Amino acid sequence: MSAINYGDRIPNNVNLNEDRALQRALEQWQPNYLQWWGDMGPEGSKDFEVYLRTAVSVDPQGWAQFGYVRMPEYRWGIFLNPAEQNRRIHFGDHLGEPAWQEVPGEHRANLRRIIVTQGDTEPASVEQQRHLGLTAPSLYDLRNLFQVNVEEGRHLWAMVYLLHRYFGRDGREEAEALLERRSGDQDNPRILGAFNERTPDWLSFFMFTYFTDRDGKFQLCALAESGFDPLARTTRFMLTEEAHHMFVGESGVSRVIQRTCEVMNQLKTDDPARIRAAGAIDLPTLQRYLNFHFSVTIDLFGADQSSNAAIFYSAGLKGRFEEGKRSDDHHLRGQTYRILEVAEGRLVEKEVPMLNALNEVLRDDYIKDSIAGVERWNRVIEKAGLPFRLKTPHKAFNRRIGSLAGFRIAPDGRVVSEQEWAAHRDGWLVSEGDRAFVASLMGRVAEPGQFAAWIAPPVVGINRQPVDFAYVRFN
Ligand SMILES: [Fe+2]
Ligand SMILES: [Fe+2]
Repeated sequence: MSAINYGDRIPNNVNLNEDRALQRALEQWQPNYLQWWGDMGPEGSKDFEVYLRTAVSVDPQGWAQFGYVRMPEYRWGIFLNPAEQNRRIHFGDHLGEPAWQEVPGEHRANLRRIIVTQGDTEPASVEQQRHLGLTAPSLYDLRNLFQVNVEEGRHLWAMVYLLHRYFGRDGREEAEALLERRSGDQDNPRILGAFNERTPDWLSFFMFTYFTDRDGKFQLCALAESGFDPLARTTRFMLTEEAHHMFVGESGVSRVIQRTCEVMNQLKTDDPARIRAAGAIDLPTLQRYLNFHFSVTIDLFGADQSSNAAIFYSAGLKGRFEEGKRSDDHHLRGQTYRILEVAEGRLVEKEVPMLNALNEVLRDDYIKDSIAGVERWNRVIEKAGLPFRLKTPHKAFNRRIGSLAGFRIAPDGRVVSEQEWAAHRDGWLVSEGDRAFVASLMGRVAEPGQFAAWIAPPVVGINRQPVDFAYVRFN
């Protein structure tokens, strides 16, 4: 089951050749996908040979093979984790029943919606990142960008397989629509807000892969618990790929900080203007990027009270993060959870039924995980002997979804007036000036082992290759 068949036009470990109708349908979708990749994938990269990893099995050890690939020839395929014998649904109203191998009729519409929403984020991020290759700070970083891009493309394949295999005609229509929506498009945008924001520079890219790919991790973890077994198995394998995306973000930001601290120590200054003049990104600017990406990303978890979240859980479609490791009753009826709302001009906690607050539960798990990485960034600053510390803003800051949307809330959690917000906005969120400055640093560095002046080299290379390896060959 775990062997991947690369003899087929579509590599897979689901015995695709035993289902001719499905195979044909996916083979008809394939050229449309490649067309989309050509139109919306990494710009100007068609002839590059990129040192990429490709999945060759779904075993936790050694699933990846590394080699030079021209990206349009990347072997996108369909890989599910092996089935677990006698797997049972372990939460919600169906607790204890055998996991579903086919879609239950009563949950069909909700499952399709969950899969489409997840699937839509995958091509969206490729679209958001499509210009970045032109300004990569090194070949190492360029390769990492392209690795993330081809794997997001594969994640789209993962969701499209489920739509084709389990949802018949409307599944096929949804699979087409996934190639038609466009990130940031006025008329036909991607489904979720953060996936319509621009990723205009490499600092945004690193913040995005740290924060927003981590949202991906938490969504995939929740779906990996699903009672719909094919969804659980698909998302388990996607998670192995997601880990690298978050690594790119965490190490990318860390290297930017490292470089900034070097410049601060050389110049013995914390004056942003002098640090910028020396070609590095000052720490307050990094903080504003962090504030932006954190707040936009936590909106992805949805409204703090949601009857859909309750339905998805009770129906066994979407679990909590690490559902299997929790020791409660996995029904959650009669339990409560605290969410925030604004009353009399300040934030107050309010107890609500836990089932309705499951978006908030997942958001809070995500926030805990995010903060841990920010502390690792702070250790870089601390090691450099500098007093500055980065901080995730209050979760009520800059929200556009849920009960906190419509209020102005400072990074420290104070409810503020429109005037105070306007006066501080450019100190709290990325300003036009910040973006222009960061943009001014961007420019492609294409010599092996060379790095742009605003970012430190990584400690080690990819797949134990040296840092000065030719990760991308231009032809
Ligand atoms: Fe993804
Ligand atoms: Fe990702």
